[in-house]
Amino acid sequence: MLSSIPPPLALVTGASTGIGFELAREFAEHDFDVVLVADEPEVVDAAHRLSRPGSRVVGVRADLTVPAEVEALVARVGEMGALTALALNAGAGVGGEFTEESTVDEQLAVVDLNVRSTVHLAKSLVPGMLGRAHGRVLFTSSIAALAPGPYQSVYNASKSFVQSFAKALRAEVANTGVTVTSLMPGPTDTAFFRRSGQLDTPIGAGPKVDPAEVARAGFAAMMAGRAQVVTGSLLVKAQVLLGRVLPDRVLVAAHKLLTRPRVSGGGRGAGRA
Ligand SMILES: NC(=O)c1ccc[n+]([C@@H]2O[C@H](COP(=O)([O-])OP(=O)(O)OC[C@H]3O[C@@H](n4cnc5c(N)ncnc54)[C@H](OP(=O)(O)O)[C@@H]3O)[C@@H](O)[C@H]2O)c1
Repeated sequence: MLSSIPPPLALVTGASTGIGFELAREFAEHDFDVVLVADEPEVVDAAHRLSRPGSRVVGVRADLTVPAEVEALVARVGEMGALTALALNAGAGVGGEFTEESTVDEQLAVVDLNVRSTVHLAKSLVPGMLGRAHGRVLFTSSIAALAPGPYQSVYNASKSFVQSFAKALRAEVANTGVTVTSLMPGPTDTAFFRRSGQLDTPIGAGPKVDPAEVARAGFAAMMAGRAQVVTGSLLVKAQVLLGRVLPDRVLVAAHKLLTRPRVSGGGRGAGRA
């Protein structure tokens, strides 16, 4: 009797909207079963929109800033089967002056989501892939990882963490059958800038690329086992090259021009829904 091989299983965090939703679409279109994770109940609808006959596309609500919810998610995924692909994409930012325009809880939530939950999920799910000598891991970092970021200081620092962590983990798992890829998007047309209160900044109001384009590049790089992929305009790619050679003081000054609110006090809160 022929035994049927189950489809590969992918987990995508931050998958209800933006880059994560488009990553989940890539997996679904490439015949993966997909677990989409996000904080709000809309993630269930997002999963329905991607499901096809015969496929398993499931939306799971989890607030990843809460460690117990991360644990519950890991247990749920364990029940669903062996994970082939892990896209740790959920992330958020807070714009505006660090000392004046946010609460400590808002800034710590950025750390809890972008840093803590990323480490927690990687630590919980990558060992299983190593045990099976097979897997693909994608971290959504950012070009913001490359420079200190005035007016989004904790966000940039969190993405520097993700970028460093991804590179180090990639080196540790070399030649195991598991690869780690870092996706470094430039400004992308998602809810990110509204949610971070940065619509009234040059970067928030400036040109952006389609999240579907970002996800396509991220998915392809991940499947090919590449170390990293930068997405965005030629200007963004030039910024990345310059980021490798220019001193921090120049990068910080340039960043400040992009992220400073145009109207005093108009940054944080100005773009809130
Ligand atoms: N947009 C850009 O220009 C840009 C550039 C570089 C890197 N990135 C990175 O790309 C990733 C995706 O962002 P995006 O631009 O696609 O933004 P987005 O549209 O705002 O998507 C963010 C996703 O994260 C989820 N999320 C937020 N808080 C969560 C929490 N506490 N627990 C679980 N899920 C949570 C959101 O779900 P809910 O709606 O349910 O909260 C949503 O699915 C982030 O890591 C971001 O840093 C974005």
